[in-house]
Formats: sequence, structure tokens, C-alpha cells
Amino acid sequence: MTILKIAQLGHPILREQARELTRDELLSAETQDFIDDLIETMRDADGAGLAAIQVYRPLRIFAIEVRPNNPRYPYRPPIPLTVLVNPRLEPIGTDMFDNYEGCLSVPNLRGVVARHVSLRVRGWDRLGAEVDEPAHGLRACTYQHENDHLDGKVFVDRVRDVTTLATWTEFDRHHRAAFAERARALVERFGS
Ligand code: NI
Repeated sequence: MTILKIAQLGHPILREQARELTRDELLSAETQDFIDDLIETMRDADGAGLAAIQVYRPLRIFAIEVRPNNPRYPYRPPIPLTVLVNPRLEPIGTDMFDNYEGCLSVPNLRGVVARHVSLRVRGWDRLGAEVDEPAHGLRACTYQHENDHLDGKVFVDRVRDVTTLATWTEFDRHHRAAFAERARALVERFGS
């Protein structure tokens, strides 16, 4: 497996529209190897998710995972490894959560983005099997963050109150405790 290079904010590829895959393309050894590399790269960087476009492959694929004690997101409950291909997200209801987000393509910056707390998630798993399931809470927020990458969007585009922008150190000093409290309430409500 290979650790891939992660595109940083300002690189034009992050603004491209990723394209869908066919099942044959997804099942090719080349794409399956790429998905292994995507997962390995996400884990190496302690990300909660990583989209193919962030590693210079404008395909509609992303991986999500939060392992226990992730140093970037110590307040988050674990999310099992999930790979989603050609995803379609549909909000359920109108409830929103002000999520403090970071991104492996946006070095040392976090900011508040309003996300839907409940989604219907459709698409394929990495072997092309149909996925159709709900996602709630912080997990739903992560889906929306990764799905934005597939449409050339980065979380900073959605930060409405730019005074929430913070470096990781200042987030830890001034915002993490209050956010972790709100995140805990969300997790209690949804279990994720
Ligand atoms: Ni990101």
C-alpha cells in the first residue's frame, strides 16, 4: 500500500467536480488498490474521512472512519470504516447542528459549519453493493463534509460566521470544551 499525497487548499483539483464510476471500473484491481491506498492515507493522517479528489483522483469515492482516541478528534465516538461510491445524500427533516470542522486539505484551520443531523445515504459500497441507510449526528456531518469534496467544495466555503475560524491550538484552548459539550449532547441524542 502507498501513502498518497493530499492536495492542499488552493490546488485547483479541490475545485473540480468528481465523476461517477461504473461498477466494472470500481471492481478493477486498479480501483480496489486505490481504495486501499485512500484508507491507508486517511489513517496515516488521522483523518475522520478522505475523498478521492483530495488525493488527486476526481472520482466519486470517499472513506470515513473514526478510530478510538483519534488525536484530531478526541471527543468523537468511533465510526466503523465506511467506503461510499457514487453517493447521494438526502436530508431527513430540517434539524441542523453547528459542527466545528477541520480538513486534511486545509492545514491548521477549523470553523463552524451548519450540517443536517439526519440523512438518507445512498450509493455503493466498495464492491458495488447498493447502500441505502440513515446516518445521524456527527457521522451525518462527516458524510456531508466528504460529499462536498466531490462537488469541488471545501468546508471553509460554508463557514457563515468567519469569526469562528480558529487554528487547531486556539480551538483547543478556547472552543474545544464548549464544542465537545454540544457534540456530546448530539451523540447522546443519536448514538453517533
Ligand atoms: Ni475535508
